[in-house]
Amino acid sequence: MSEQFATAAPQTGERLLCCLDPILRHTWELSSEQRRAIRELMDIAFRGDFDDADFDHALGGIHVIVDDGARGVVGHASVVQRQLLVDGRPLRAGYVEAVAVHPDQGRRGIGGAVMAAIETVIAGAYDLGALSASEQGAGLYRRRGWRVWSGELGVLAPEGYRTTPGDVGSVMVWGAGVIDLSGSLACDWRAGPLW
Ligand SMILES: CC(C)(COP(=O)(O)OP(=O)(O)OC[C@H]1O[C@@H](n2cnc3c(N)ncnc32)[C@H](O)[C@@H]1OP(=O)(O)O)[C@@H](O)C(=O)NCCC(=O)NCCS
Repeated sequence: MSEQFATAAPQTGERLLCCLDPILRHTWELSSEQRRAIRELMDIAFRGDFDDADFDHALGGIHVIVDDGARGVVGHASVVQRQLLVDGRPLRAGYVEAVAVHPDQGRRGIGGAVMAAIETVIAGAYDLGALSASEQGAGLYRRRGWRVWSGELGVLAPEGYRTTPGDVGSVMVWGAGVIDLSGSLACDWRAGPLW
């Protein structure tokens, strides 16, 4: 399905200083210091609204990290594999989690650079990208070509399929040019926030 990414080529974080190039690590490659620094960045950037379940969702895939040397980790996002059903068709999705930039370093292109690296991973490894956007994040993603899923959202819960209407408007997808965004999109089951 790689042809569907032709119109959504990754953009670079053009304002990013050269010394802040993102690094990519699988979860297993993170040092305990990096893991702790990522968690600390989440607590700062989300102002306490980021718990253990949220962090767990960010593990088991590829982490993009920006480390400025002085402050340490100032930017992060990860992409993990989930199964998404698009109108009943199972797709391998790169689900983006824990996108955050240190508040002191905002609007300098770090978020864009992190997302550019994430999109490169998605384009090479998954059928589509998906995420649940915060209000702040939505502006960043929209500008990069992510689109809001406008159709029904649901989950394959242990007791069966059910809709998740509370998430409509915040779930965004990327690289899904051939997919009808007004169709149904269902995610796999997990603890904590489903999307
Ligand atoms: C959202 C966040 C990651 C953005 O990081 P950033 O490094 O400031 O983003 P960038 O500098 O790369 O922004 C690039 C573009 O994205 C858009 N953008 C970024 N932050 C935005 C915001 N708060 N509101 C609207 N648009 C925004 C703008 O178009 C921006 O370009 P501009 O600065 O020229 O206007 C950061 O604000 C953050 O960590 N927020 C708190 C945690 C959070 O909500 N994370 C997203 C979870 S889904």
